[in-house]
Amino acid sequence: MEIIHVSAECYPVAKVGGLGDVVGALPKYQQQAGSIAKVVLPAYRTRFVETHDFEQVHQSGVWVGQQWYHFNVLKESSNELGFDLYLVEIPDLFNSARVYGAWNDTERFLAFQIAVLDWINDWAHVPDVIHCHDHHTGLIPFLIKHAYKYHRISGIPTVLTIHNAQYQGQFGWDQMHRLPAFDPAKGGLIGWNNAINPLAAAIKNAWKVTTVSPGYMRELYSDANGLEDLLNYEKGKTSGILNGIDTQVWDPATDPMITANYKAASVTKGKEANKLALCEKFNLDPKLPLFSFIGRLVADKGADLLPDVVGRSLYELEDRLNFLVLGSGDPHIEWMLEQTLALNPEGFKLFIGYNEALSHQIYAGSDFLLMPSRVEPCGLNQMYALRYGTIPIVRATGGLRDTVTDFGDKDGNGVRFLHASSHDVTHAIGRALDLYADDKMHQKMRKNNMLIDHSWDRSAQQYLDLYNSLK
Ligand code: ADP
Ligand code: GLC
Repeated sequence: MEIIHVSAECYPVAKVGGLGDVVGALPKYQQQAGSIAKVVLPAYRTRFVETHDFEQVHQSGVWVGQQWYHFNVLKESSNELGFDLYLVEIPDLFNSARVYGAWNDTERFLAFQIAVLDWINDWAHVPDVIHCHDHHTGLIPFLIKHAYKYHRISGIPTVLTIHNAQYQGQFGWDQMHRLPAFDPAKGGLIGWNNAINPLAAAIKNAWKVTTVSPGYMRELYSDANGLEDLLNYEKGKTSGILNGIDTQVWDPATDPMITANYKAASVTKGKEANKLALCEKFNLDPKLPLFSFIGRLVADKGADLLPDVVGRSLYELEDRLNFLVLGSGDPHIEWMLEQTLALNPEGFKLFIGYNEALSHQIYAGSDFLLMPSRVEPCGLNQMYALRYGTIPIVRATGGLRDTVTDFGDKDGNGVRFLHASSHDVTHAIGRALDLYADDKMHQKMRKNNMLIDHSWDRSAQQYLDLYNSLK
C-alpha cells in the first residue's frame, strides 16, 4: 500500500498546530506497519528546510489563471523522519517561513495543489491513495477526477481528513479561471453557498472523508460551520478516527526538551523537578498548583475566557494557584492577556509567541492543563498532558469528550465541564484544587494517566482498513 499525504504542515518541517503533529507522525507509523507513506508539502523557508539537504527530483511549471509559476520538487535526503518527504518549491509564492496568513494564500495553495498533481502525473508509478488534509489540499480530489480526467492519475482514490471544519478556504466564483480547465458541467462539485469552497469540494469529491475523532464527526452532522447538510448528504462515506500522538517525540522518559526525564513510577519526583525549573524561569511559587494553557489564542480555543478566568480564580480561590499561558493569535486576546498580567503580576505569567521547547517544559512542569475549547476536533494537548502526568481540565466537546473523563466518574482521568463560560471554567478549577488536595488520589491519577496508550498504532490501522476498502 502506497499513500501520499498532501498537507500544509508536517512536524518538524513546518508546524503551526496539531495538523503538523499528525502529518509528522501518522506516515511514520504507517511505514512501521509495512506501508509506504510519503508526505508532500510546500517548501516554506523554515529552519528545517534551511538546514537539511534535498535532491531535486522534478521541475516544471504551472499556470494559475494567467500567471505562470516555475516549481521544483525536492526530496529530503537524510531519511531521518521515518518517511519520504517531498517539498514543492514555488519560489514566487513560498519565499519565507510563513505557513498561513499571506495575502495571496488562495493563489499559493492553488499553485501548490496543481503542482503536486502535475508532478504525480509525471511520475513513473501512481500511489494507491492520495490522502488530503484540510482545505489547503481540498481541491485535489475534484481536480484528479475532472481536470485530469484523461491522465494516468485520474482514477487514484482520494481520502480527505477534516482537521477543522471551521476553516474552509472559500473564494469567489470570479476566481474560477485560476483553476485548471475542467468540464463546466461539473462546476457544482466545487461550490457551496455561492462560493468555491475547497473543503466542501473535498467532501463532495473524495472517496472517503474522515475527521479526527468520532465525537467531532457526530457534532459535524449538526454543526459544521455551514457544511452540515452536505455532510449529512455524504454521511455514507464519512467516519471519525481518533488521532494518536507520536510517543517517540512525546515521551517524558527521553524528551530532550525538558529539565528532568521521568516515567510513571517516578512521576512525583520528575514533575517536581520540571515544575521547579519552570517556576524559576517565570518567577512563580512552585508550592502552588500550576494551571497552564498552551495554544492558539483564538475564541475557538476559549482563549478569550482566560483573562476573566484568571482574575476570578485568583480572587475567588484566594491566590491558592498560579497560571501560565503560552500562545499567540488574535491580537485582541493577546492584549487582554497583557492587561491581565499587569493586574495580576504574582499569580499569572504569560509568554506570547510560539516555542516548541517551552511547550514541552510546560506539559512536564504543570499540574493542570486548561482547555476551555468551544470547538475541538481532536485536540492533542490533552493527550500530551496525560502522557506527562498533567491533569487535563477540558470542556466536554469533540475529541476532548472522547479522550478525557471526569475524576468524579469511575477511572476518570481529568476534569470536565460543559459550558464555555468563565464561570464554568473557574468552577472546574475549584474542583481541580479539591483533587490536588487529595494527594493519594492525585498521585494515583497522574500515574495511571501516564500509562494510557494514545499511540498511533490503533488509528494507523483504522486508516489502513479505510484505504483497503477503496480497492
Ligand atoms: P490546534 O491544531 O487546533 O491548534 P491541537 O491540540 O491539535 O490544536 O495541537 C496544537 C499543537 O500545537 C500542540 O502540539 C501544541 O503543543 C502546539 N502549540 C500550540 N501553540 C503553541 C505555542 N504557542 N508554542 C508551542 N507549541 C504550541
Ligand atoms: C486541528 C484541530 C485540532 C486537532 C488537529 C489535528 O487543528 O483544531 O483539534 O487536534 O487539527 O488533527
